[in-house]
Amino acid sequence: MLVTPLTPQFGASVTGVDLGRLDDAQFAQIKEVWLAHRGLLAFPLQNLSDDGLLAFSRRIGRLDLPPNQEHGRQSPMGFPEIYVVSNLKDQAGQPIGALGDGEAVWHTDMSYEANPPLASMLTAREIPTTGGDTWFCDMIGAYADLPESLKQRIAKLKIKHDGTYNSAGLLRAGLTPSDDPVTAPGTLHPAVIRIPETNDLALYLGRRRMSYASGLTLAESEALLDELWQYPVKSHRIYWHKWSIGDLVLWDNRTTMHRRDSFPSSERRRMHRTQIKGVAAPPAFITQKIRISGSPAE
Ligand SMILES: [Fe+2]
Repeated sequence: MLVTPLTPQFGASVTGVDLGRLDDAQFAQIKEVWLAHRGLLAFPLQNLSDDGLLAFSRRIGRLDLPPNQEHGRQSPMGFPEIYVVSNLKDQAGQPIGALGDGEAVWHTDMSYEANPPLASMLTAREIPTTGGDTWFCDMIGAYADLPESLKQRIAKLKIKHDGTYNSAGLLRAGLTPSDDPVTAPGTLHPAVIRIPETNDLALYLGRRRMSYASGLTLAESEALLDELWQYPVKSHRIYWHKWSIGDLVLWDNRTTMHRRDSFPSSERRRMHRTQIKGVAAPPAFITQKIRISGSPAE
């Protein structure tokens, strides 16, 4: 197994293994490498079948159902745990998957859930000749980049994660449109989470649209979120994956965010994804109580 870093800070490319024929020692090594590289691994040219994709996914954990997207939940026939991301249409003219051909903005998957998926993996079945690349950013590094004053401001902050719109900006099936982040329904998660396996701290933002920093006025929330969002998307925190058919990319939704470039509507793109269940809501970063000199100990 050959492990090559994708960037100086995070992510690795793993070659010399067949994900469809891993022995236990190889799988244990992949899990170690995955943690060591902050939750992003690319496996070029694996060409896993849908059965192989499910089998590898299940070695990591139990699977979540696909997200409810603009056309509801869509999966290949007989594979309800696989999510199709595609601009293609079937013979009846119905889309076979989600997100169309437009840009998908920075996000982490399904963070509007109380227990968001721990991880996702995506494999390329058909790719356009141009565009459709997927970008990843490093949320452990983003947190480390924050000035100390900002770390303190968000130490106990919770952010509301919206489930109304998907990353392509499309209304999820059956939901009511809203433009008010304060009153719209959503799930609160800590702005800073601790990764139990490594004790790393990561910024946990979800997606920018309809996000709301709980307890603040909308103007205060917008200003704070705009400030926080500057950090993860700096160029030195980003890996840009240009797909080849058969590539598989595995990411930890706690330690990374991702986005997708648009591509020409005349071209075909078809990706299959699985999502691994999270065991609990991301844990809050509990700041240590600071004892001020002369004050009584609590
Ligand atoms: Fe996504």
